[in-house]
Amino acid sequence: MKRQAFITGTGHAVPEAILTNADLEKMVDTSDEWITTRTGIKTRHITDSNTATSDLATTAAARAMEAAGWKPEDVQALFIATVTPDHAFPATACLVADRLGLSRVPAWDFAAGCSGFVYGLIQARAFVESGIFDRILVIGAECLTKITNWKDRASCVLFGDGAGAAAISSQGPGGLLGGYHWGSDGAISDLLVQAAGGSRNPATHETVEAGMHYIAMNGSETFKHAVRAMRESCLLALEMDGTDKSDVDLLISHQANYRIIDATARALELPPEKVYVNIDRYGNTSSASIPIALDEAMRRGIITPPKTVVLAAFGAGLTWAGIIVKWNG
Ligand code: ACO
Repeated sequence: MKRQAFITGTGHAVPEAILTNADLEKMVDTSDEWITTRTGIKTRHITDSNTATSDLATTAAARAMEAAGWKPEDVQALFIATVTPDHAFPATACLVADRLGLSRVPAWDFAAGCSGFVYGLIQARAFVESGIFDRILVIGAECLTKITNWKDRASCVLFGDGAGAAAISSQGPGGLLGGYHWGSDGAISDLLVQAAGGSRNPATHETVEAGMHYIAMNGSETFKHAVRAMRESCLLALEMDGTDKSDVDLLISHQANYRIIDATARALELPPEKVYVNIDRYGNTSSASIPIALDEAMRRGIITPPKTVVLAAFGAGLTWAGIIVKWNG
């Protein structure tokens, strides 16, 4: 029988501290009204100086393991989608695997911007179906506020910190990982970039003074590509799955901007009650946004079988990805 991959547990973690739009009004020339109407964001959770991506990732992964009923010795591999690792190296995944007590399993990071978690699910599906692993932890974890320019009103109002995780198993019951679509376009990578700190522009006094270690984003251009790519990802993933859009029960889209979520929902002809939205509380947490939303929807009993769920993301790279997950009971 063909091997299949299932989501059998989820978890998430966000830092306690909350930054409101009213707080941001005191920091830059902005208003609650502008942020709310242009993005849908009201608050975001932000880490303190003692907390890094691995801390959030460890908690989220431990919760996913608990939900799946896994002990540390059950996990065969762990990978983390992140653009804000604790360090350039070693991989944050190695630190998290150690803190979870996993015994010497393969652990690695990868960067696919905000599409990272869906990229991770597609990789996990391939590893499970090929028979390489039976049980994998896939994590999306970010501390975007550590690379946010708090003087740039066009970007600093958008981001928050958090982590989400999923336990992927060859044995159900759970959410069956189905049809998917993923892609990238590096020709327009300059729309969303952290320009310094890597081998192209190593960190120097000059790069730091110029703020080149912060997120730089051409918001309106990114917005156009996001709307087009998310629509395409959803429709092509549904086509591969052999599922009609009228059979979709829930859309969990990357939470970057409410208007992008709304445009994606329209492409699928979904009413608001079939679209999960939490951008108002968390802002854009990049690769963590989909697993945080997925875990909330699971724990709130929104994903009770049978349910067909579409996950769709878009981010730096540029990258995009969509996957169909079916909870059949
Ligand atoms: N408060 C008040 N005014 C502002 C603010 C602010 N915080 N930010 C920008 N403005 C002003 C601009 O200066 C501009 O003023 P002007 O018309 O006088 O020049 C006006 O508002 C409109 O600016 P735009 O950038 O055109 O606004 P837009 O409607 O495009 O919204 C936003 C900006 C929210 C950033 C939107 O473009 C967006 O969400 N883009 C996509 C972001 C995204 O998906 N990123 C991908 C993932 S992130 C990752 O991978 C890390």
